[in-house]
Amino acid sequence: MITIKSRREFAKMARAGTAVAAVLEAIREAARPGVSLIALDEIGAKVIADHGCTASFLGYLGSYPATLCLSPNDVIVHGIPDSSKLRNGDILSVDAGAIYEGFHGDAALTIGVGETAPEAQHLIDTTREAMWAGIHQVRKANRLGDIGSAVHAIGEASGYGVVEEYVGHGIGRQMHEEPQVPNYGTPGKGLKLKTGMALCIEPMFNMGRRDTKVDPDGWTVRTDDGGLSAHWEHTVAITPDGPQIFTAGDKPVPVGFEEAQAHR
Ligand code: MF3
Ligand code: CO
Repeated sequence: MITIKSRREFAKMARAGTAVAAVLEAIREAARPGVSLIALDEIGAKVIADHGCTASFLGYLGSYPATLCLSPNDVIVHGIPDSSKLRNGDILSVDAGAIYEGFHGDAALTIGVGETAPEAQHLIDTTREAMWAGIHQVRKANRLGDIGSAVHAIGEASGYGVVEEYVGHGIGRQMHEEPQVPNYGTPGKGLKLKTGMALCIEPMFNMGRRDTKVDPDGWTVRTDDGGLSAHWEHTVAITPDGPQIFTAGDKPVPVGFEEAQAHR
């Protein structure tokens, strides 16, 4: 079901988004060579609690065992934090979700740890750029295909594999609501966007082929060819005052004005 949120509900989602933004900022600061993934997960749990929120992912589908998804190098998404330590030159995707009074916020970023190889940085920067291109298509009367085609064009132009098996999504009282938001599409096609909708825009780009595989743990999604992967995500709402990003900082950022913020 596609849910239409009221102003009051959006205010709760914005509070959840603020917590998520704070988590990502804290992890960005803490992610240094030698730090374990589990230590980063603990930081995430503390920041979420400090914001009066609970974690969206912990216990998801009855089994996700951590607060964050931490996905190094060839892990695309859904990496489970373990005792392994970050190393110089790693890239790390960090995905966080929080719930405030029953409403979710969800966002992700990819960072370089220590010194980052230029080609890894290009993958990170291009995936982020594609997320912003997708976000700029989120407005009343646009269609899902406008978002997906904008994202896909940017990945394709750099020769990256654009992941298709995992997609963005609606968000509200549930972390994953309809509609699915694929990172491909045809301009002018697909569901028409309306005020009251909130969408997570989340491109996943691979250095090599787009194909994916899942580890025996049932969660960890990797590139099939072992190449690097990057993932960026924001929660974007079409409010009565226009589209706003809920996960970019302390308060909602109107789409188109994010350059004025210290955004990611
Ligand atoms: N945040 C992810 C997404 O963007 C989902 C996390 S899966 C979980 O859709 F199992 F960790 F919850
Ligand atoms: Co998401």
